[in-house]
Amino acid sequence: MATILAIESSCDETSAAVCKDGKMLSNIIATQQVHQKYGGVVPELASRAHQQHIIPVVEEALCSAKVNKKEIDAVAFTRGPGLLGSLLVGTSFAKAFTLARNIPLIEVNHMQAHILAHFIPSDKDPEWTAPEFPFLCLTVSGGHTQVVIVKDYFDMEIIGQTMDDAAGEAFDKTAKILDLPYPGGPLIDKYAKEGNPNAFQFPEPQIPGFDFSFSGLKTSILYFVRDKQKIDPEFLQKNMADICASVQHRIITILLGKVKKAAKQYGIKSIAIAGGVSANSGLRSALREMAEKQGWKVFIPEFQYCTDNAGMIAIAGYYKFLNKDFVGQDIAPLARMPF
Ligand code: KG4
Ligand code: ZN
Repeated sequence: MATILAIESSCDETSAAVCKDGKMLSNIIATQQVHQKYGGVVPELASRAHQQHIIPVVEEALCSAKVNKKEIDAVAFTRGPGLLGSLLVGTSFAKAFTLARNIPLIEVNHMQAHILAHFIPSDKDPEWTAPEFPFLCLTVSGGHTQVVIVKDYFDMEIIGQTMDDAAGEAFDKTAKILDLPYPGGPLIDKYAKEGNPNAFQFPEPQIPGFDFSFSGLKTSILYFVRDKQKIDPEFLQKNMADICASVQHRIITILLGKVKKAAKQYGIKSIAIAGGVSANSGLRSALREMAEKQGWKVFIPEFQYCTDNAGMIAIAGYYKFLNKDFVGQDIAPLARMPF
């Protein structure tokens, strides 16, 4: 029996969750609005906002879980990777809480947690099952793009990753070129629903193995928009849906092309997606379609567990609790944190 309080503060979401014996009782996420007018996350403002949000968010997580802080058996927190100033807020809070209550402290790797979100039982889907090991996971977020072979809860091998921009960055930087506010991913997703994915052709980079590159795509979109605007200054407004659909289509074909290749080479038929970009409706439906043709079983997280959330930290913390994998008060956050 274990009740875990989890804290996530790696980027611009302050989140707290309570999980009891692997079941999620609450998952509260406060998204920081302060970055919108700057077109991206401002690290100094992010850590200040975490400071303001952390106590109310934890209180709400406990309250909505109907759990008293005295019932908490351990605290799990995101140690990295992420913005150091932001991570420090969550780390300090977790250390103080466990010190005051004399309970164990558990460090969690944010990227592993995105993948372990697949082990959170769903309240919404009666057919929910957790993936069986080994499975292949495409982890796509604002800072990372990875193809991972998941052999066990904490035994994961990255076989491919981005050499430059992450998939989420490709969405966000495209949105910036299109004069859309930050974060652009969800907006491109929205416009793409009304557009033709084959209206414009953007290049697919030829990268060996399972690695990715998105910086060439970004440059080609920049030149494409600039050239079209020279002929028609209203090109963007008139073609927003088609541009978004075409860019999104290209990002998806790049991602799923590598997944298909990896699944074939490793003979794995259980395929999962994780991270903020796994909320993309085009990616979700394209993966389902590909799975049908390839005979794969696919695992797509609930929306609330796609983008940054403490629920995924709680489930990772729960499995570490079962292993008695605890850390001491001398632990420090890490901006870069390999598996
Ligand atoms: O995992 P996440 O919340 O934070 C990081 O760990 O980076 O991912 C954030 C990224 C952002 O780049 C955001 O634009 C993207 O996920 N994103 C989306 C969608 N929702 C969030 N990208 C495409 N379509 C979406 N619906
Ligand atoms: Zn993330």
